[in-house]
Amino acid sequence: MNYKITVLPGDGIGPDIIAEALKVLDLIGEKYGHSFLYTEADLGGIALDRHGEPLPQVTVDTCKGSDAVLLGAVGGPKWDTLPGNKRPEAGLLGIRAALGLYANLRPAVIYGALKDASPLKTEIISNGIDIMVIRELTGGIYFGKRGRLDSEGGEAAFDTEMYNVSEIKRIAKVGFETAMKRGKKLMSVDKANVLESSRLWRQVVEEVAKEYPEVALSHMYVDNAAMQLVRNPAQFDVILTSNIFGDILSDEASMITGSIGMLPSASVGSSKLGLYEPIHGSAPDIAGQDKANPIATILSVAMMLRYSLDLTDEADAIEKAVQDVLNSGYRTADIASPGTKVVGTKEMGKLLREHM
Ligand code: NAD
Ligand code: IPM
Ligand code: MN
Repeated sequence: MNYKITVLPGDGIGPDIIAEALKVLDLIGEKYGHSFLYTEADLGGIALDRHGEPLPQVTVDTCKGSDAVLLGAVGGPKWDTLPGNKRPEAGLLGIRAALGLYANLRPAVIYGALKDASPLKTEIISNGIDIMVIRELTGGIYFGKRGRLDSEGGEAAFDTEMYNVSEIKRIAKVGFETAMKRGKKLMSVDKANVLESSRLWRQVVEEVAKEYPEVALSHMYVDNAAMQLVRNPAQFDVILTSNIFGDILSDEASMITGSIGMLPSASVGSSKLGLYEPIHGSAPDIAGQDKANPIATILSVAMMLRYSLDLTDEADAIEKAVQDVLNSGYRTADIASPGTKVVGTKEMGKLLREHM
């Protein structure tokens, strides 16, 4: 089969990690007889530099005309002083919205070989960790009204958290459907003791729960959830939460698995077209130095094969290669521990392909 993939390398380490991910995808194509046709497009800082805007229309059109989108990361100090709607990050929010990708799946899995890389004590992670964070992606405070105004205390700024019933319902359904395919346990995380938007969230999630009597639903306040994630992460299976809480909790969950360089993500909506990206950023501190861990991006390729292209064996092959290469003792610097062999981005990509 032929598949059209839009590639958005973005900024910072984006091009470093995307290069390795594409070589992995090429090898999948060779081994399984598929052809992946790549169209590169600009998003983020690179798009600002080349087109004067973080999300050019041609990028949106290219993404819409493809089977799946693979993204590196966007942002960097060069563009940090631009107004909010001109920042690279606005381009990322824009493409998520333009493609209707309201659900962001962020699986935090600890690989056996990486237990030493986790900052948590061995006894806390001894039974493994396998959490799916489901983050609402096109609503909430990220997309609410924001602005500046004058106040008695001087200039003021505001951002608005808002969710409507249909937005909550559709993400809740993703949460319950995911729970049905896993351990049938769903933890909805909110701040319903303070926020009205969270109270509506909880009410709608309870409503949707009636359609899924087999799923054990619980609720937790986000502050407690942040604490419980490091106290006893194994208690979580599927976490369902808002845009901003999901952003924060998934970074925390990633570190439990050893490094933010390990966590992939899938952003999906109501069609097969999805956007796949590591959860980390453009890491300007290590950009272009052959230091970035490419595994989160390579695992995002596996998610792309699984969710958008229905290529399950191919996805499994990548995930198995990641496991094997970690078992063989090779590490990028972010996941290194005493006795392991540290390699760069390119070498890690090469080792992974050898294990495939
Ligand atoms: P970051 O995730 O880029 O980096 C945080 C820390 O983690 C840094 O020390 C970095 O070196 C390290 N790190 C991240 N990815 C790594 C990898 N693959 N391998 C090894 N180490 C890795 O977060 P930040 O520093 O807060 O943000 C930097 C820029 O990235 C900002 O402009 C921010 O807006 C942007 N950002 C973009 C995305 C995205 O494109 N999806 C996500 C988060 C942040
Ligand atoms: C992420 C990032 C983005 C987000 C930023 C860069 C807009 O942190 O993908 O997690 O907050 O969604
Ligand atoms: Mn984030």
